[in-house]
Amino acid sequence: MSRFWSDHVANLAPYVAGEQPRLPNLLKLNANENPYGPSPRALQAIRDAANDTLKKYPDLQATALRSTIAAQHGIKPEQVFVGNGSDEILAHIFNGLFRRAGKPLLLPDITYSFYRTYCRLFEVPAELVPLDDALTIRVTDYTHPAVDPAGIIFANPNAPTGRALGLEAIRAIARAHPELPVVVDEAYVDFGADSAVQLLAEHENIVVVHTLSKSRSLAGLRVGFAMASPEIIEGLNRIKDSFNSYPLDSLAQAGAIASLQDTEYFQRTCQAVIDEREKLTSELTALGFNVLPSLANFVFASHPRYKAPDLQAALREQGVLVRHFNQPRIANYLRISIGTPEECVRLVAAIRHALDTVPAAA
Ligand SMILES: Cc1ncc(COP(=O)(O)O)c(C=O)c1O
Repeated sequence: MSRFWSDHVANLAPYVAGEQPRLPNLLKLNANENPYGPSPRALQAIRDAANDTLKKYPDLQATALRSTIAAQHGIKPEQVFVGNGSDEILAHIFNGLFRRAGKPLLLPDITYSFYRTYCRLFEVPAELVPLDDALTIRVTDYTHPAVDPAGIIFANPNAPTGRALGLEAIRAIARAHPELPVVVDEAYVDFGADSAVQLLAEHENIVVVHTLSKSRSLAGLRVGFAMASPEIIEGLNRIKDSFNSYPLDSLAQAGAIASLQDTEYFQRTCQAVIDEREKLTSELTALGFNVLPSLANFVFASHPRYKAPDLQAALREQGVLVRHFNQPRIANYLRISIGTPEECVRLVAAIRHALDTVPAAA
């Protein structure tokens, strides 16, 4: 604790991202980045936008981007909120929707760890709901919670498990709490799960959060968006305009629009990730791993005879980075992002070598 800090800073537990070392010949499969890169049309749009108009502030309402998103999802522009990556959007959601008289937020015990970071930052008590033994969300825990919650958040597909709920389950949760925000973080939805956007027309309390970091391969551009009822979006705008009115610069807005419009590239690269995920799942299973059925751009796998940290270290020695979470219930799992077919060949070879060299656990 420094004498210069505000009171609450000492109690923060900042999010720890997957490491980003700059080593030659590294295979980075630890941050769920997309190996195919952005649409060439998005890159061209960013280059075209890099001109003298940068002397002006960007469109603070991101009108063209919000209209593009609205048209693609069959909703109105006033149902769309954009921000500097979905992490920023989630921050505004915690600040603007979940701070309700000290009531707790319901969230899974195993999920995207930034949610708990935001709970601390925004002083929202966290009510952690254990996933079931198959590491899936048990719907009744949310339809009939043990506490009186301020709201609900979960990722669908969940991270780091990759497991997804169907729309009926999400509908049941939203219906059980018509007065509360139910936030569905769909960072990975484009890799095979159903989007709750379809439920917005029936449920004014659902907030769906998307990012261009994963399926659009634009993690470096920092663009995310939320879709919800105009009432909820107005609340988020009030928060945004009390914090930073210009979260998306002109280059990001131009690149995001072009990326969203390049449907052919999007579908082709998502399908390539899905195909490789299924192939990798079979290969890891054949090597003795238990692999959770994933609908994301990563798999979550454990091996009954080897300790996950040992395997992670053996892979790192071969220049392959994967993610391990030192957390109860999942400490023997590795989260492995899906690469190109060539990258997966290298990964599997490195795993085979690790299995040959790492001592088996007793
Ligand atoms: C579930 C989930 N939500 C949100 C994010 C943040 O994405 P963004 O790059 O849009 O901030 C991530 C990033 O890994 C994630 O896994």
